Amino acid sequence: MPSASPCWFPIETERLRLREFGVNDLDDVHAYASDVDTVRFMEWGPNTAEISRERLRLTLDEQAVWPRREVNLAVELIEANRVIGSVRLGVDQNGGGDMGYVFGSAWWGNGYGYEAGSALLRTAFSTLGLHRIWASCDARNTASVALLEKLGMRREGTLLRDRRVRDGWRDTHLYALLSEEWKG
Ligand SMILES: CC(C)(COP(=O)(O)OP(=O)(O)OC[C@H]1O[C@@H](n2cnc3c(N)ncnc32)[C@H](O)[C@@H]1OP(=O)(O)O)[C@@H](O)C(=O)NCCC(=O)NCCS
Repeated sequence: MPSASPCWFPIETERLRLREFGVNDLDDVHAYASDVDTVRFMEWGPNTAEISRERLRLTLDEQAVWPRREVNLAVELIEANRVIGSVRLGVDQNGGGDMGYVFGSAWWGNGYGYEAGSALLRTAFSTLGLHRIWASCDARNTASVALLEKLGMRREGTLLRDRRVRDGWRDTHLYALLSEEWKG
């Protein structure tokens, strides 16, 4: 983020609060980070308790610094008062950015991904004035493909066998959205 950037979070939506992580989130984070179904198409996990603790510690350390180019936020389900996943927004030096997300499998199919993703795009384009947001996903990740397309993102191409993951080389879809394409 440019050095003069005001802090743009927490973000509140109808059901979710996108906010910084706290030490008390460890159990909620480990619940999804250790879940085989949740991390199937992630490049990390499933986490041991030790790895979850260390990852959270690193995130808390990062949170001490502002501005920063990459922001990871906990997604809190307000009515349940617990963390159900996380989102990421990275900002590059050319006024563009990239986003990512993970939600625990227990919470899939309730529109939370769309609600959080829409809020992140609104922040990126409307609050931060970015001109392009991109995201990538494993080509086999039908849920992520569906979410990205519902968010209005355009598939720009597919990188063949570009990353080695736990079950071999994967193909990666690249998606993007320009500010003028964003429907708000
Ligand atoms: C991808 C992910 C975030 C989707 O979250 P979600 O909260 O279940 O998504 P939503 O409920 O908001 O659904 C958004 C759209 O995607 C569709 N969708 C969701 N899961 C789907 C699936 N498995 N197959 C087909 N469509 C799916 C929904 O039907 C909805 O479209 P619709 O409203 O037209 O019906 C979630 O599956 C997830 O966290 N997966 C594990 C982590 C991961 O893979 N992250 C992405 C790494 S690139």
